[in-house]
Amino acid sequence: MVDPHPAGSDADIHYLFPDDTEFPMTSNPMTRKILVTSALPYANGSIHLGHMIEHIQTDIWVRFQKMRGHDCHYVCADDTHGTPIMLRAQSEGITPEELIARVHEEHLRDFRGFHIAHDCYHSTHAPENLAMVHDVYRKLRDAGLIESRTIEQYYDDSRAMFLPDRFIKGQCPRCGAADQYGDNCEVCGATYSPTDLINPVSALSGTPPVRKESEHYFFRLGECAEFLQQWTRSGTLQKEAANKLDEWFAAGLQNWDISRDAPYFGFEIPDAPGKYFYVWLDAPVGYMGSSLRLARERNLDFDAWWQPGHDTELHHFIGKDILYFHALFWPAMLHAAGYRTPTGLHVHGFVTVNGAKMSKSRGTFITAASYLDSQLNPEWLRYYFASKLNGSMEDIDLNLADFVARVNSDLVGKFVNIASRTAGFISKRFGGRLADSLPDLDLLNEMRHAATSIADSYENLDTSRAVRDIMRLADLANQYVNDCKPWDIARQEGQDAALLEVCSVSLNLFRLLALYLKPILPRLAEDVEHFLDIPPLGWQDANSQLTGHVIRPYQHLMTRVEQSRVDAMLAANAAATRPADTPATTPAAAPVTPASAPHAAGDAETISVDDFARVDLRIARIVNAEHVEGAEKLIRLTLDIGEEKPRNVFAGIKSAYDPASLVGRLTVMVANLAPRKMKFGISEGMVLAASGDGPGLFILSPDDGARPGMRVK
Ligand code: MSP
Ligand code: ZN
Repeated sequence: MVDPHPAGSDADIHYLFPDDTEFPMTSNPMTRKILVTSALPYANGSIHLGHMIEHIQTDIWVRFQKMRGHDCHYVCADDTHGTPIMLRAQSEGITPEELIARVHEEHLRDFRGFHIAHDCYHSTHAPENLAMVHDVYRKLRDAGLIESRTIEQYYDDSRAMFLPDRFIKGQCPRCGAADQYGDNCEVCGATYSPTDLINPVSALSGTPPVRKESEHYFFRLGECAEFLQQWTRSGTLQKEAANKLDEWFAAGLQNWDISRDAPYFGFEIPDAPGKYFYVWLDAPVGYMGSSLRLARERNLDFDAWWQPGHDTELHHFIGKDILYFHALFWPAMLHAAGYRTPTGLHVHGFVTVNGAKMSKSRGTFITAASYLDSQLNPEWLRYYFASKLNGSMEDIDLNLADFVARVNSDLVGKFVNIASRTAGFISKRFGGRLADSLPDLDLLNEMRHAATSIADSYENLDTSRAVRDIMRLADLANQYVNDCKPWDIARQEGQDAALLEVCSVSLNLFRLLALYLKPILPRLAEDVEHFLDIPPLGWQDANSQLTGHVIRPYQHLMTRVEQSRVDAMLAANAAATRPADTPATTPAAAPVTPASAPHAAGDAETISVDDFARVDLRIARIVNAEHVEGAEKLIRLTLDIGEEKPRNVFAGIKSAYDPASLVGRLTVMVANLAPRKMKFGISEGMVLAASGDGPGLFILSPDDGARPGMRVK
């Protein structure tokens, strides 16, 4: 399509500072060569807000570097190997290749939806990665850093496969809690090896596993201890991360098991048929594989990124849960194989929603797709996360009420407002042409000079500080408009010059704010560039002002967030985890599970122990029960399950019980059922009751001695 308004020529943009010496824009005026990565998302699940915050943080940093004129590339890929992906493909009746191809499309769509501009989003199941894995492995082996040893592991005879720790469950050897995974206890926090579990069962088949021997390959991490200690102190890590590493050094570095037995979806070890590289070996090498792909696509210099002795930077963005892999195994592998090591590891904390861990049952395990499908603007989330990220490893809370308030107040109320209040006068009264010169205003100077400290904030990943500073400037700009009152000036005779000046100043302030926000809000900045009819803003444009230039008529740049869309998104996520036979919206489908419900009948498919373990059944005390106005079948129950806040549950048991008779008694509830929005309020679970063909409903009760909050298994 031909642009009807060709971009404004350079002649319209007046540089205030002829060169960098008067107004240095960068601490390092040289062009830096930078390769940046985000952690590779697993290909067995959807992109959710946890992934998104990482990609948003990385993308902001990359866009900032590019705006500064640096030679920066951003690569990522899907992490496609391992047992969970193999099993998931099996359960879907497709090949792993089919599964990862489908997921790759989904992931790409989600990332594009949030304007994440990877230069290459590849896959670990790719020839480039295979080549790099072989290369790295051979170098490690030739350096004498690979050894093999026979170990004993749990094996599921019925499935003819060795079981990864997460696929073995049993009783905790320390506290005795039932149903714990093979590597750690969620009740007491103990960590152990699967062979320590009491009464272990395979989570795949429910049968007790047997012990079986097999030869495994190990990377001799211990040999790299000295190098790692020195690397850790080289300024590559945040302080919190370096401290964590010191703990690990103190505990001693164990050699790392890098092989897995068939069946396994992954790369076969070249000199060991039937053995595969553990997914965590080929995943970080995927950073190389992906950049090799990019280098081939665009004819770039792969060696400059990865061979030592080049003046390039390598930055990895990761979450705190995978620090061990990136701060120990990865640099050790790189170093031992003769490659360069990372310049920076940037570790972020975990996303929580409304103060709690993301939860599928509460609908707060928010997928990227559900956000986009709910017609929420991706830049709202980019902005909100940016306003919270400060370069530390602290968790980041997405408080949804705060999200709505903040976006509406900052982006719509402050930023966009500046243009919407002044642009109309330029179009209507001055043919769209801005003043030929601007007055020497402190505000304009302050706004311009802020470029340096805002750049520092971006550079140091303290986007929270950048946003704070930018919004303070937006406040000043609004204050300027309020004080000058262009709408009053417009009504006065002979005040055209004053009106033109105020509006031209305002739009110049607005232009600078758009520039500063551009790494965070690339699409909005693009719309501003279109509106101002200027070429893409780079960081050095803070040096210039827009005068004597014709802009386009203002069109609305951003709408407000509506709470209803946020609610719809939560409902969609809750619905996605709800079993198909429990409709969310019809109160007629009473939230009671009669014992004769269709799925309990003889023709139902069987479920695994694992499936059953997903149902969180708890003893509940009915602390209140009351009729629900206007509901034929429902009683509103208030249930104490030992949590701080009692649960509100609507139960379809009005035909069988007088509410007063229920108060005080114990029953059993499903505590992790997705909340459902009903006509009368939100139902936060379900109580269990039996029913047959005839009338009658019978609530379950535990034997004497049970207490609210106890788990039912
Ligand atoms: N596949 C590995 C990474 C291999 S990198 C060589 C992996 N994948 S993941 O899909 O589980 O996570 C990808 C990234 O998302 C990790 O950096 C992880 O920390 C991050 N997050 C996943 N859930 C998260 C939150 N709830 N909050 C913030 N980030 C989290 O690990
Ligand atoms: Zn325990």
